[in-house]
Amino acid sequence: MAYKYPHLIPQNTAPKGAKRIGVYRDGKRVCSVPLGRLGQPTETKRYSFGLVSDTHVCPNNPGGDVVSARLDHAFGWFEEQGAVLIANCGDMTNIGFENPKGTYNPAEFAEYQRICNLHPNIPVYGACGNHDSYNAHITEYEDELITYTGRGIRFTVEHGGDVFIFFGQPKSSVLYVDGSTLPIPELEWLQNQLNANPDKRCFVFIHPYLTDDSGNPLGVHPTPIEPAPYVHNVIVNALKDHGRAVLFHGHAHFMPSMQAYDKTCNYTDRNGFPSVHVPSLGWASYIDENNEMQKDPAEGFGILVDVYDDCIVLNGMDFVRDVPAPLGVYKINT
Ligand SMILES: [Fe+2]
Repeated sequence: MAYKYPHLIPQNTAPKGAKRIGVYRDGKRVCSVPLGRLGQPTETKRYSFGLVSDTHVCPNNPGGDVVSARLDHAFGWFEEQGAVLIANCGDMTNIGFENPKGTYNPAEFAEYQRICNLHPNIPVYGACGNHDSYNAHITEYEDELITYTGRGIRFTVEHGGDVFIFFGQPKSSVLYVDGSTLPIPELEWLQNQLNANPDKRCFVFIHPYLTDDSGNPLGVHPTPIEPAPYVHNVIVNALKDHGRAVLFHGHAHFMPSMQAYDKTCNYTDRNGFPSVHVPSLGWASYIDENNEMQKDPAEGFGILVDVYDDCIVLNGMDFVRDVPAPLGVYKINT
C-alpha cells in the first residue's frame, strides 16, 4: 500500500549521519529506503555557527536555573561541533535591565554574560527582542548592553566572507517607529549594511517575524509584534533586492515539529528571500488540540547552521533529548 508522508517541505533533509530512512508501522520497523534527495550536501562545508533565540534567561524566576543549564549545555554542544560563533535572535533575557517598579536590575544580563563566559572560545552575538526591553526600552541601557554582551543594539560582524547583520529592536512593543511613512534611521542603517555588501552573503538577525512570513503556524501566536506596513515593506524590499540575504528571526517560540500544522512554521521564501524561524531555547511552544499556542518550559531547541559555498543546512536540535529536532533539519540555497 502506498503511503505519502505529508509534512515535509521541499527543503527538508535527513539529519547528519543518517544513511537510510527507516519505515515503521505501529512502532515496528518494517524496512528502510534510500535517502534520495533528502541527503545532506556531500561537499566540504566552509564553517558552522550556532543559532538560538528566545533564551529568556531569568535566574530569579522559578525554573530559571533550568533555562541557564540548558543554555550552557547548548553553547557547549555548539563549541564541540566546531561552531565559530553563536547568534541569538533576541529575548536574550526575560525582562531586560529594569524591574517592573522601574529600578535598575542587571541580574538577567549578568547571568547571560556568566553563561557566555563559560565558553570563552566561541563569541555570542545577540539582536535584542521585545523582552530585552520589557520594562524599559533597551535604548536607555545601551551602555549596559555593551557591558554585558559586548555589543550594542545594531552591529555587524564578518566571517568567511559572509556578513552577519544584527538588527536589534529598540523597543518592546513594535519593531520600529510606529506606522511612520518617513525614512527611519534604523531602517536606513539596515539598507546601508546590505547596500555596502552587494556581492556577499548577508545573514540578517532580527527578533520578530514579519507579516505573512515564517514563524507563526496557523497564525495562532497571540502577541505579534509585526512591523507597521511601511516598515515591513522597507525590510522585505531591502532583503529581496539584495539577492543573497537570509533572514533569521524568533519571537514565536514554536518547536520545529509544528511544521506538521503549517509548512511555513520553520521556513518560507514567499516574500522573495529565505526566512528562517528560530525556535526558542528557553521554552518552546506547541499548538494544542484547540489550535491554540501553549508554552512548555521543559522544551528547548536550537540550530547548528552548516555553511557551504552556495547553501546552508539548518540542523535543528532538541537540546532536552540531544537529538535532531523532528522536521527541523533543512537545506536552503543561498
Ligand atoms: Fe520570546
